[in-house]
Amino acid sequence: MKRAWVVAAAFLVATASAQDKAQGIAGQVCAACHAPDGNSVAAANPKIAGQIAEYLQKQLRDFKAQSGKKPLRESAIMNGMVANLSDDDMKGLAAFYAGQAQKPAAAAGIQRTESPRAPVAMGRRGPASRRSSHGSRASLPSTSPRS
Ligand code: HEC
Repeated sequence: MKRAWVVAAAFLVATASAQDKAQGIAGQVCAACHAPDGNSVAAANPKIAGQIAEYLQKQLRDFKAQSGKKPLRESAIMNGMVANLSDDDMKGLAAFYAGQAQKPAAAAGIQRTESPRAPVAMGRRGPASRRSSHGSRASLPSTSPRS
């Protein structure tokens, strides 16, 4: 029983320092492009805050070239960023960013061209009817075969 506690405590200490190390890397390396909390500001750099940890970890692993092979995911930037990261570092980084709150921002570069009311008056092929086909059946157009 006593030994179990010692092992558990050692594990907790190891986890804590791996987490500290990851946080240090995040602040010193990744923050430049992904912002300190992963809510990247520039559109070219994906937001990584609040993503699923396993997803982030897989992306980081895929960016890293394994034993002389090409990385599964190629990125001139990220392939270099992960080159010196260990599996533990990637796990810690993934956990760190997964724990950050994602701050949604308006989609960049997209401009609304129609007024919000316009689709109501449009025919079957308009955006309004396309949207309604995912909604309740009551809102299907009257020409629908199943109405
Ligand atoms: C010089 C800028 C820059 C730095 C520094 C940087 N990244 Fe990136 N990161 C990018 C860009 C650009 C992409 C998009 C790559 C692509 O898809 O081609 C990316 C993609 C990612 C992705 C994949 C996101 C997704 O949803 O597909 C993760 C995870 C990531 N970065 C984590 C990190 C971590 C962790 C660090 C620090 C070790 C880091 N990045 C440092 C620019 C950067």
